[in-house]
Amino acid sequence: MKRCIGKNLTLAVNNILVNYNDEGPDNAEVILFLHGFPFNKSMWDMQMENLKEDYRVIAYDIRGHGSTEAGNDDFSIDIFANDLIGFMDKLELKKVILCGLSMGGYIALNAIARYAHSFGALVLCDTQCTADLPEVKEKRKKAIEGILKDGVEKYVEDSIPNLFASESLEAKKQEIDAIREIMKKTSAQTLCATLQALAERNETCSKLSAIEVPVLVIVGKEDKITPPAASRQMQERIQGAHLSIIAHAGHLTNIENPNEFNTQLKQFLHHFTQEASGSNVSVNL
Ligand code: MLT
Repeated sequence: MKRCIGKNLTLAVNNILVNYNDEGPDNAEVILFLHGFPFNKSMWDMQMENLKEDYRVIAYDIRGHGSTEAGNDDFSIDIFANDLIGFMDKLELKKVILCGLSMGGYIALNAIARYAHSFGALVLCDTQCTADLPEVKEKRKKAIEGILKDGVEKYVEDSIPNLFASESLEAKKQEIDAIREIMKKTSAQTLCATLQALAERNETCSKLSAIEVPVLVIVGKEDKITPPAASRQMQERIQGAHLSIIAHAGHLTNIENPNEFNTQLKQFLHHFTQEASGSNVSVNL
């Protein structure tokens, strides 16, 4: 298929139209970004801008989020991962470097467990390999009831303080407003269906030792949703994985401290691409 380059492109995948951005040189390594819940592909804008000179950078809106259609199927992490594989097949992408934040990380871990050969490296940001504990499932159930009773806006305002480090709530007002707007545009139907999918997801901790590609685990020091301990647990189980704990950041590390996030990501990518090309250059991660 002839490549289209730009923003807000569309592609038919698994009976839905997926909206995506695809920028950077044709023959460069591909980095594919998966956003968290309930955001959209624009949460990766700062990384796409920063990397697009040297890498082909792609981000798409997950089913029901942003400008991608919701379709008729029940949401699940399996179906989100099937969409990822369908999307990659359509664009003929092989061995991509997959970078997922939180729910994006759940999808990445699900996909690599089933389609290991499709990925060349993995970046797991502010995510975890465990399934929801009963009390978290209960909180999600209450959240669904709350959305149906009080609407999307209240859910969004209740969620914001948990997403960011307390210092970001003061220092990053513009970025937080942008996230707030994205969240508010998400339909109640998508919010509820995704909360249900998150509650029903399977653990992937038992699959981590089978991962053979280079892995970078990134987490905000103040992440309250998927705290550093969850990242350390993943790093310890993945052979050779590197862990970066980012200061001045909560759950949305790439937005709260983009400079440090981009530095860590670029260092990892540089190391990975040198290795892939067979060079002997050694970089201290
Ligand atoms: C996310 O950012 O994707 C969510 O916080 C994930 C979750 O609630 O488990």
